[in-house]
Amino acid sequence: MNKKISHVLRSLEKRADYEQKNYRKIHHDDRMLAITKDTGIFYNILLKIHKSKNILEIGTSTGYSTLWFADAIPRNSKIITIEKNQKKIEIARKNFSKAGVSDIIEIKQGIAKDVLIQLSKFRKSNPHKHFDFIFIDADKEEYSSYFDICLPMLKKGGIIAADNIIFPRRFQKHIKKYLNHIKGIQHIESITISIGNGQELSFKKK
Ligand SMILES: C[S@@+](CC[C@H](N)C(=O)[O-])C[C@H]1O[C@@H](n2cnc3c(N)ncnc32)[C@H](O)[C@@H]1O
Repeated sequence: MNKKISHVLRSLEKRADYEQKNYRKIHHDDRMLAITKDTGIFYNILLKIHKSKNILEIGTSTGYSTLWFADAIPRNSKIITIEKNQKKIEIARKNFSKAGVSDIIEIKQGIAKDVLIQLSKFRKSNPHKHFDFIFIDADKEEYSSYFDICLPMLKKGGIIAADNIIFPRRFQKHIKKYLNHIKGIQHIESITISIGNGQELSFKKK
């Protein structure tokens, strides 16, 4: 693993530990709400095996998951990550710079749905720019619509992954809807994996 990336990840894990112990004291907009460390390791290995190069992430926060992805991909790859919170974007930018990966990460600030619609217009006319891996980790009520906008931008053999499929339980209503939604889509093979807060991996067969 890249030493600089690893150093930044360790410091973010300390912050995540603090956040867990002092959850109620921290204002919602200031919480990292990051994937767990085992989830990070899982995706890092998956992306290496899958040989993913072009990645799209919905929900950057302070860049913890993005850094796990950045470590797994070659230097000529690209990650586009979407976040609406300006304060978190500034922290993420600093983290990417400290980790030495700013050149392969593009942060798009805005409401995810608007950014995705813009991206999909561009990708429609540039099919070679399609993504190998898309990670959904933002507002749970929008998971199904993110999936629908993202699917045409995903290469055949690509993966759409989503976090918080099992925990926290308060998202269950939205997650159930998401899982039912995916079930009805042709050429998608999907599985729930109980790593971290639960991951849904959806593979595009055609
Ligand atoms: C669970 S956190 C992402 C954690 C990050 N993937 C990680 O593991 O480090 C979700 C993030 O999505 C952002 N978000 C939520 N709804 C959004 C929306 N509609 N558009 C853009 N960003 C959104 C939040 O501000 C928050 O930072």
